[in-house]
Amino acid sequence: MVQGLLPLTTLLLVPLSNLKLGAYKCLQQNYYGIYGGRHAFIVDDACWTSSFSLMGLGTSATHDRQESRHLVWLERVRVDPSLLDAPFDVELDWMLGNLTDFSSHSRTSPWSSGIARVPQLPLSTSQRPARSTERAVQTLHRAHDGVLLSMGASVLDAVNFGEVSLPRFWRYSVFPEAPIPLYPVPEEAKQRLREALSTIKFNHVVASIVNGISVYSLRRDIRYLTGEDALSNIVSRHSFSEGALRAAEWLKEQIEETGASCVLEAFQVGFAPNVICTYAASTNTMETIIVGAHYDSRGSFGSARAPGANDDGSGTGALVGIARAIARRGVVFRKNVQLVAFAGEEQGMVGSRVYARTLKDAGANVTMMIQGDMLAYHVSGELPQLALSDPALVGTAEVTQILANVSAIYSPELKVGYSPYPGGSDHQRFHEYGFPAAQVEERIGLIADPMYHDSGDLSEREGYDFEQIKSIAKVELAAVLHVAGFDLSGPAEDVEGGDDS
Ligand SMILES: *[C@@H]1O[C@H](CO)[C@@H](O)[C@H](O)[C@H]1NC(C)=O
Ligand SMILES: *[C@@H]1O[C@H](CO)[C@@H](O)[C@H](O)[C@H]1NC(C)=O
Ligand SMILES: *[C@@H]1O[C@H](CO)[C@@H](O)[C@H](O)[C@H]1NC(C)=O
Ligand SMILES: [Zn+2]
Repeated sequence: MVQGLLPLTTLLLVPLSNLKLGAYKCLQQNYYGIYGGRHAFIVDDACWTSSFSLMGLGTSATHDRQESRHLVWLERVRVDPSLLDAPFDVELDWMLGNLTDFSSHSRTSPWSSGIARVPQLPLSTSQRPARSTERAVQTLHRAHDGVLLSMGASVLDAVNFGEVSLPRFWRYSVFPEAPIPLYPVPEEAKQRLREALSTIKFNHVVASIVNGISVYSLRRDIRYLTGEDALSNIVSRHSFSEGALRAAEWLKEQIEETGASCVLEAFQVGFAPNVICTYAASTNTMETIIVGAHYDSRGSFGSARAPGANDDGSGTGALVGIARAIARRGVVFRKNVQLVAFAGEEQGMVGSRVYARTLKDAGANVTMMIQGDMLAYHVSGELPQLALSDPALVGTAEVTQILANVSAIYSPELKVGYSPYPGGSDHQRFHEYGFPAAQVEERIGLIADPMYHDSGDLSEREGYDFEQIKSIAKVELAAVLHVAGFDLSGPAEDVEGGDDS
């Protein structure tokens, strides 16, 4: 790859709440997505000088863009303060030190970490990232919650492969190579959801289908994914691990048994694939409803074990539980329904970004996307709960409202509120591409799971609540049943709770 030196450009970071996009035409073609609660734009001089008020929108930094370098937003996730080990600045300086350290030592390959590498996926070698000789890491902007860096491909690879230490609560997201044309969710799509919402009321058939989700199966499936079930041999589901490939194959098999057709879709060299499963519509429609989760996981730095029972074995287990409940009653949806298990979430929602972009490019008609990420944990003594993504930050209010309504109807045991996070899981990528989306999550406050991003994230531990996973999975499935419409091809008699039969 030629190292093209592009003209000096301005990076503009705008808080999510500040943006009235219609007013700034030139921003619309220079959008790069959401990073730490900010919209990011990279604009040229003409755009920058076209409106004085651009400067007032947010924070800016100049940089000379080089094609072979990546822009990486690195941030510390806000978690319950009781979980923190060290102050923000201390951890950031460690990490910058480690990155600088890594980049100034000429190692031949960053791929010598303990993580077993995935056998090459069938992608052409031209898709391999070019190895940059430029290794230095440059800080472009330092904020109170994160930092924007520019780094060469080899440093980014090392971070992706777990070669450079990333303290537990830090995560990152890489700017795409090309801008994302800025698509707000169309009014027409919201209107369709409002119409669906107006028809939602208790339906005993829906109730019996969602009650078919079995805690017994959830436990068994999640224990398989985490390797707690000794038969699975999955040590890690890190995106680059062999265990992730095994998990992908297993998910495909389980969900296909329920009548869906699944494909393993490779999206970037080195990463395990997305698992995309489709129940085809019984009517002639392109409309598609997506339920997602990420099956890749992350463990403690230096440990080969990454069980990810909560993050996101819980959301992934919910997908399998939903699939089994669909099969149990022979549900046939009137609209297309996809269950998608993403990989690359822990490397900055890479798999979902590629998938959302593929759907956008294909002109797909996504009615709504629901992401389930971290569904299991609540502090002992707290009631089971359901945190919904806050549409004032990321996501679509109509989807959130549907979820809140079906929760009140079918899982009244859940206390419902908003999550404080501005994206940060795969639904964010759908939102960036203008699809109606929302996330369901375990806790109304900050993340309090003491095993978050830890090799001890197992399912047999205090606070890990399979009943809560079931309650939230019921909400996901009930929303799909109400919005897609359905018929039954299976046994007509009512099936009682999934756990008693
Ligand atoms: C790298 O990170 C570790 C903690 O993960 C820290 O102990 C160490 O000091 C860091 N190294 C440098 C050079 O900052
Ligand atoms: C999606 O499908 C619905 C129903 O057929 C239609 O009204 C709508 O215009 C379609 N939207 C897109 C973006 O294709
Ligand atoms: C359902 O949604 C509507 C808004 O469309 C709201 O007014 C109503 O209270 C909700 N019902 C329940 C049970 O949450
Ligand atoms: Zn997650």
